Amino acid sequence: MCKNGEPDWFVLVGFLHDLGKVLCLFGLPQWAVVGDTFVLGCPFPDTIVFSEFLKDHADLLVPEFQARPTGIYERGCGLRNAVRTFSHDDYMARVLREANAQAPERLPEAAFDVVEFHSLYPWHNAGSYRELMDDHDREVLPTIQRFQQYDLYTKDNRPPKLGEVRQYYDALFQRYLPPIIRF
Ligand SMILES: [Fe+2]
Ligand SMILES: [Fe+2]
Repeated sequence: MCKNGEPDWFVLVGFLHDLGKVLCLFGLPQWAVVGDTFVLGCPFPDTIVFSEFLKDHADLLVPEFQARPTGIYERGCGLRNAVRTFSHDDYMARVLREANAQAPERLPEAAFDVVEFHSLYPWHNAGSYRELMDDHDREVLPTIQRFQQYDLYTKDNRPPKLGEVRQYYDALFQRYLPPIIRF
């Protein structure tokens, strides 16, 4: 447990959750890797940041996507079953799942959800997509919201001293990750 009372795996996820941004170093355009995510196949809520730029989106001309609030999905289908815009979230969640399967200790399912959904701001921050949620989403949502207070921007202006934190992080890596992570 860390000094904020969060479980150790939460700290690990805080350290790793954005590493999917390495995709930019491998040629993916920035718009496909970073930024907030949203659900495809249903109407775009105006809680999507800069949603005004979606007014010419080709999906608005697809009747099945627009005919009802849930679009092509059944109510309560579960957000992990809905197609979302690709981002570093999705990629890193896959990397982490595969890596953790080879590690000494399994992460809780919520760890992968935090990574996979941390950029889905219209959902966890603005209350959209409630009609797509299933029991799993309702259970994990408070954890994803709790994670937000640790995401984005510098939390402490004093940079950590590597010598003081190295041992703690190395122990986390050894517990939850194999020696080599495949990206
Ligand atoms: Fe991120
Ligand atoms: Fe982040």
